[in-house]
Parts: sequence; structure tokens; C-alpha cells
Amino acid sequence: MQISKRVSEMIASPLRKFIPYAEIAKKKGIKVYHLNIGQPDLPTPKKILSAVKNFKEKVVPYTHSAGIIELRQAWADYFATVKIHLKPAEILITTGGSEAMLYSLLLMLNPGEEMMVFEPFYSNYKSLAKITGVQLVPVTVKVEENFSLPKNSEIEKKISPKTRAILIVNPNNPTGTVYPKKDLQRIALLAKKHGLWVLADETYREIVFENARPASLINFKTIEKQVILIDSVSKRLSFCGGRIGCLASKNPEVIANCLKLNQSRLASPTIEQKAVIQLLSDPTKYTDGLKREYHKRSEIVYSGLQKIPGAVCRKPQGAFYIIARLPIDDSEKFVRWMLERFSYRQETVMVAPAKDFYATPGKGTDEVRIAYVLNTTELKKAMMILRLGILEYQKQMPKQMKADLCKSFSAVK
Ligand SMILES: Cc1ncc(COP(=O)(O)O)c(C=O)c1O
Repeated sequence: MQISKRVSEMIASPLRKFIPYAEIAKKKGIKVYHLNIGQPDLPTPKKILSAVKNFKEKVVPYTHSAGIIELRQAWADYFATVKIHLKPAEILITTGGSEAMLYSLLLMLNPGEEMMVFEPFYSNYKSLAKITGVQLVPVTVKVEENFSLPKNSEIEKKISPKTRAILIVNPNNPTGTVYPKKDLQRIALLAKKHGLWVLADETYREIVFENARPASLINFKTIEKQVILIDSVSKRLSFCGGRIGCLASKNPEVIANCLKLNQSRLASPTIEQKAVIQLLSDPTKYTDGLKREYHKRSEIVYSGLQKIPGAVCRKPQGAFYIIARLPIDDSEKFVRWMLERFSYRQETVMVAPAKDFYATPGKGTDEVRIAYVLNTTELKKAMMILRLGILEYQKQMPKQMKADLCKSFSAVK
């Protein structure tokens, strides 16, 4: 029997592929600090938990395929609090932001057509591109350049007759960048000029630090019908397991066609949809605390990385991730080594190798992504263990390789 090319060629989740090594380490009695996956540790709001517990119906029915109307209204009310004006009819509830990502690709592109992505990018887009037959065309942004978007003239070089869409994740997973309004303006200009769809993934909207202010691409009037907005309560309300997200658009054709996709899977989870209605309309009380906590953590991780000789990173502006270049030869080898061979007082750390956050082969080999999803005490410890691990790992790297790495890292600092 044969597994389809489409699926067999998908990559295993880069965030999960080293889990078996972590499990073996744990069996040996080693505590593993997980910095590899964006699973928030912050408690889900009590209001949501009690709404789930207090579900009293005798039957758990399907909901409308577009989502419960009260939830679509609550999402519109929430959007209004962040100055995004959408009607409930312009919002479709999806099973997590992930389903909205899949539907967006299906709506915007035929197999073989191209979507531009700024790499490093959220790796699940790679799997979804594989499933849908979409070609990802990467434009690289670099840690040494603060992950800034290249000039439009540079970006335009990647546009071909097959280009149909451009993806912007803002605030960004995995770089922690929050794009300034003028960058979004440039993207809007580009999209208008070349008639491109804009996929605006704004899942981390509230999680921004200091002076960063996330603007929404759907508010750019000139392209408003070209934008598909993806949103989710997974991170905003620490409700990843609830699997509630949405796809929003001011283009009635997008909504009408997406509804057919929604209908093909009948409905999203009923109890979880009901559970978020109350809090979603005005989540600020919860998200203010969330933002403060992630900000504190971002500083711990950033200063922890600065203590590692040769590490290169930029201060995160939002989300809860950071990409760092480390003075190592290969981050996949390093992650495995940390789990199999290293521990400090029976504790070790797991980070995500960054290679799979790139579409260009060979990029990201010496980079890792850290998700700061541990409390501040554990995070400080984890960063110390990571530093000790790197120093130990370097001892077994060939001398010449170490010297070359030192040279290249001092050049970028
Ligand atoms: C950038 C981005 N978009 C979308 C998602 C999807 O989240 P969910 O399906 O849990 O809503 C994630 C999850 O980590 C993400 O990082």
C-alpha cells in the first residue's frame, strides 16, 4: 500500500521530532525544561474553565458551521476594542487558528501557485503548503539586521507570474518581531501593485512589549478586500486545547467560499465555543497580566542569551519567542546532545532547532528558537543550564570548527 506523496513528503513537526529523546531523558530521572514549544503555562481564565464545567445540556450538538452567532458577535466586539471593525457576518469560527491557516491557503492559491513568506517563519505553514500544493517562496530576514523587512525592490525580485499571496505573521513567531506601521504600509503597497492576497496572521496581537504597537493589515483600506485575517484564543486566553480560532475578511466572496470549507467539517467544538464568549468580548483584564508576564520573561531570556559568549539575538518586541544564533555547529545535533548526553544536577533544557523555520535549505543550522513558556524562576535556571550546556558541547567540537565559529560570530556582533 502506498501513502500519498502529498502526505509522505510532509516534514514531521520540528517542534515535536525530538520529543522521544526528551522522554528517554525523563525516564533516566532527568528534568527537562521545555523551551521548544509554544504551549503557554499560564492558567486558562477561571471564567472559561467554569463555563466548560457548567455545561448542562443533555446532548452536545453540532453548532452552525460558521460558528455560534453569539461567539461571532463577541469576536466582532473584541475586534472593535482593538480598532478592527468587522461584522459578525465577516467572521467564521474555525477549529483553532490552524484550521483558518489551512482554509486560507485553500482559498487563495491553486496547487503550484506561490506564496511569499519571510523566513524564519512559523513552520506549520510548511506542512500546510505541502498538503495544499502551495509553493512557499522565502525572503530571508536576518537576526543581525533586527529581522527587518528588506526594501520593496528586493522583495519584488521574488514575485513571479505564479505569486498569489504574501504571509505576514505579526507579532511574529518565531522572531518576536512586531512590524512597525510603515512596514505594513509597504506590504499593502506591494499587495495592491501586484494584486496579491495578504494573509495576516495576528494570533499574538496582545503580546507586545514596551513601545511596540501592532497594527492590523485589515485596516489598510486600499487592500481590505485582499486581506484574510487569522485569529485565535489559544495564546491570548491560554486556551490552546480549546481549539477555537477564526478567519475574518471584508470580502464577501472569501466568506461565502470559506463557509463551504467550514461545512465540510460540520462544526467546531461546541462547549469550547460557548466557553469563550463571555471573556472574548473584552479580554484586557486577562491579557494585561499576560503581557506583563511575557515581557518579564523576554528580558530573562534575552539577558540569559547575552551571557553566552558568541550568541547573537535581538530583543523580542512581542509574542513569546526568540531566535538566537548560537556558537555551535548544528542545532539539531546540539538539541539531541542536550537531551542524550548533558545534564546539570540532573536537569537539562530542550529548545527548537531553527532549520525547519526556514524554507531555504541550509539556513538556520546554527540557530535555535526559544519559547519562553516557563515561570521566571524556572526560566532563569533553564537559561543558566543552556549556557553551561553550550560551553560543554563546544569542548567536543573540533578545534578548527570552534575557531571558525568564533571568527564568524565576532564578525556579526
Ligand atoms: C503564528 C501562529 N499562527 C497560528 C497558530 C495556530 O494556533 P491555534 O491553532 O492553536 O489557534 C500558531 C500556534 O502556535 C502560531 O504560532
